[in-house]
Amino acid sequence: MTQQTSMEREARNILVQNDRGGYTIPTEGLYPYQWNWDSAFAALGFAEFDIDRAWQELETLFSGQWSNGMVPHILFHKPDPGYYPGPDVWGGTGPVPSSGISQPPIAPSFARMIWAKDRAAGEARLRALYPKMLAWVRWFMDWRLDRGAVCITHPWEAGRDNAPDWDSAMAMIDPQGVGDYTRRDTGHVNPEMRPTKYDYDRYIWLVQLGNRLGWNEARLLEENPFRIADPTMTFTLLRTARDLLAIGTELGLDTSSLPDDIATLEAGAETLWNPDLRCYDSRNAKTDTFAGCVSNASFLCWYAGIARPEMSAQLDRIMDAAAYPVPSHDPTSPKFDAKRYWRGPTWAVMNMLIGVGLEEMNQSQGHALRDATAQLISTFGFAEYFDPTNGDPAGGNSFTWTAAVWLAWAGRH
Ligand code: GLC
Repeated sequence: MTQQTSMEREARNILVQNDRGGYTIPTEGLYPYQWNWDSAFAALGFAEFDIDRAWQELETLFSGQWSNGMVPHILFHKPDPGYYPGPDVWGGTGPVPSSGISQPPIAPSFARMIWAKDRAAGEARLRALYPKMLAWVRWFMDWRLDRGAVCITHPWEAGRDNAPDWDSAMAMIDPQGVGDYTRRDTGHVNPEMRPTKYDYDRYIWLVQLGNRLGWNEARLLEENPFRIADPTMTFTLLRTARDLLAIGTELGLDTSSLPDDIATLEAGAETLWNPDLRCYDSRNAKTDTFAGCVSNASFLCWYAGIARPEMSAQLDRIMDAAAYPVPSHDPTSPKFDAKRYWRGPTWAVMNMLIGVGLEEMNQSQGHALRDATAQLISTFGFAEYFDPTNGDPAGGNSFTWTAAVWLAWAGRH
């Protein structure tokens, strides 16, 4: 049996083992619920061998959509005491117990990719999802824009929990009254690979604030000190708007709001251009200052259909600086930490989003990045993330999204 076949089998097994019936957990223990963008990856992985299950994953995700259009970052379908903060701490107000924030909106773009594999039979399912996906875009456009760029209201919303991008905004929070709580994540994996207590106090303080305000976006806009326009959200939403326009046009559905949304987001993306850094960056919407971070999210520009020669040069530099790219933070920065989550490690999922964008825009690094990601996973396994200096697997293992990246992208040559 070739190596590729056994890798493929292992990747499928991971998805099947993490399947909890209609939704897939990221990994046993550490993440026992349905996470939003993880689910989009799971769906794409399933689409390689069980197309019905792929659609079902997305349908289950949208079953948790709130009446205001928001699709939560976690759906707590069944209680699990091994995770903190759980549904009571969040106090989500949707049809399924949930968190009160969202995550990068990649599911609509992935639905389009799945439809490409299931044109005839998938059409009805895509049609049913379409208005829900459109409502999610509307929620972002109504509540989360700052000069056209998309803001997060909690570090977890960008999916890059402890990225250095948020450091100065986190420092402005005084987590007074957060109270005692017991973290569960550090019971599952090495604390050195996880966010610190300093970070966690602020994460929980922000959750308590949202819960107290009933997750009312208008009140959060006034009272939440944390509001950052971020490349993850801005680039993924821009791509989603483009994909929905393509789907809607082809199926004769209402696309009337999308051209304006796309123009707004394109202009918004340019407000993330940091001329001193010569890179897309995160921008604190409260202070209108840049974070000064070359992150893996900076390189999602191609995924959003935006190419810049400066970004190609940045990517060349970063790929040379890390043995196993793309690191989540610039290895030449003093804040780089090779093992700590989003402060340095390489994430296969981000590599795929970056690589898909590069390949679609015929950028030469796309192929190299796919090869590097295939080598990383085949050598070091289906880890949550990897040390970019030596490839060491880190965080959780048998990870759904890393398996999905193998099936849908890295393992396909
Ligand atoms: C972590 C990651 C986030 C992911 C979640 C589940 O919180 O930072 O991006 O969705 O784990 O895998």
